[in-house]
Amino acid sequence: MPSNRARIDRGRMQKVQQILSEFHLQKEELLEVMQRIQQEMEKGLRLETHKTASVKMLPTYVRSTPDGSEVGDFLALDLGGTNFRVMLVKVSEDAQGGWKIETSNQMYDIPADVMTGTAEMLFDYIAQCISNFLDQYSMKDKKLPLGFTFSFPVRHEDIDKGILLNWTKGFKTSGVEGNNVVGLLRDAIKRRGDFEMDVVAMVNDTVATMISCYYEDHSCEVGMIVGTGCNACYMEEMKNVELVEGEEGRMCVNTEWGGFGDTGELEKFRLEYDCVVDEASVNPGYQLYEKIIGGKYMGELTRLVLLKLVNQNLLFNGEASQLMKTRGSFETRLLSQIESDTGDQKQIYNVLTTLGVLPSKADCEIVHLACESVSTRAAHVCAAGLAGVINRMWKNKCKETMKITVGIDGSVYKYHPHFKHRFHTMVRELAPCCDITFLQSNEGSGRGAALISAVACKMAS
Ligand code: GLC
Repeated sequence: MPSNRARIDRGRMQKVQQILSEFHLQKEELLEVMQRIQQEMEKGLRLETHKTASVKMLPTYVRSTPDGSEVGDFLALDLGGTNFRVMLVKVSEDAQGGWKIETSNQMYDIPADVMTGTAEMLFDYIAQCISNFLDQYSMKDKKLPLGFTFSFPVRHEDIDKGILLNWTKGFKTSGVEGNNVVGLLRDAIKRRGDFEMDVVAMVNDTVATMISCYYEDHSCEVGMIVGTGCNACYMEEMKNVELVEGEEGRMCVNTEWGGFGDTGELEKFRLEYDCVVDEASVNPGYQLYEKIIGGKYMGELTRLVLLKLVNQNLLFNGEASQLMKTRGSFETRLLSQIESDTGDQKQIYNVLTTLGVLPSKADCEIVHLACESVSTRAAHVCAAGLAGVINRMWKNKCKETMKITVGIDGSVYKYHPHFKHRFHTMVRELAPCCDITFLQSNEGSGRGAALISAVACKMAS
C-alpha cells in the first residue's frame, strides 16, 4: 500500500501533467502546422493573395550568384534585439581567393524612451552611437560603406531602400512604420554633420546570418533566428517571387513567419497562456507564431503556467510570491537555468528563491516540468516552420534527396541547453528527404551585413 503522502503526491503529479499535456503536440499536429505555414508562404509569394497572407514572404533584393565583392573596411549596424551594435568589418581576400574577415565591435543599450519615442530620437541616437564608435577608432574622416542589419519586416524596393511595415518585438517608435528606414538613417547622419557614411545595403538579421554562413559553407541557403523574435529566410526561385519582376535566378525571401497565425491559422493550437501574453503585448493580434517561440515571450508564458498551477493548489502550497505575480519577472533565461539542472535541483532552487518562493522538492520538479513543456513546444512548433521551408525547397528542386545547410543564430538557440537538440531532431523527422546541416553563425548579423555591402559595392562600381 502506498503511503498517504505518496498517494497525494501521485494525485498532484497527475493533475500537473494533465495541465501541461496541452503543450504537447503530436507529430500529426506538427505536420498540420507545417502545411498551414506552407500555404501561407505560397499566398505571400503570389501577387493576388499577398495582401491577405499572414506570412509576408518579403523579397530582399539579395540575389544568388554574386559576381565578386569589394575588399576594404565596412561599417555594419545591427538593430533588432535588446541592444544596438556598431561593427567595423575588414574584408580582404585570402590566398585561395575567398573572403577573409576581421571585426571589432561595440554594443550600445537602447534606452526605453528611445524604443518608444519618435523616429528622430531613435535615429539620432543611432547616429550618436556611430559617431562615438568612429571616435574610438579615429575614423571620423573616412566615408565608409555601411551595411544596416535592421531586423524587422521591411518591404524593399531595392537593397538600399525599404519601408518598415510594422514594428515587432516590443518596439513602438513612432514615425518609422511606413517610412524608408535607410532615408531616416541618412537624414540623422546629415543632421549631426560630424561624419559621412555611404549606406549601401539594408538587410534582415536572418539574411545577414545566411550570408555569413554561406561564406563558410556554400550550401547555406536558409538563414534563421531564434532569439528575442523568430524568423527565417531562404533562397527562392525568381519565377515564384511574383512581387519582383524577372524570372531568372533566385532571390532571398524574408518569410517574416513570426506573423503566421495572425489570420487565424493557429487558433486550434493556441492556449489560454498564449492569449494572455498576446493581449498584454504592445502589438496584440500580431506575431502569434513568434509569441509561442521567441525569447521575448517564453519566460512570461512559463510564469503564467506556474500561476495556474499555484491557483489550482498544485504548486508552492497554493501561494505565489509578489514577484511571481509580477508580469515579466520570469525571464526566458531562467528557463535555460532551470533546464540546465543536473538532477540535484540546486539551480532550480536558486532561481526560485530569487523569485521569492521557498520551494519543496516536488515544487522544483514541477517547475522543471513546466519549463520543459513550454520550451519543447517552442522547439517543435519552430521545427514545423523550418520543415515547411525546407520541404518547399526540396519540391522546387525535384530531387530525391536534398543536401542543405541552415545558418542559425539567436539567444534561445544558442543558450538554451536543450532547444537545439529537440529542434534539430524534429526538423529531421518532419523533413525526412533532406540531409540538413545546422551551422551556428558567429556575429552573423554584422559580418553578413558587411559582406552584402561588399557585394553591393562591387555591383555598383
Ligand atoms: C521579428 C522580426 C524579424 C526578425 C526576427 C528575429 O520576427 O519581425 O524581422 O528577423 O524578429 O530577430
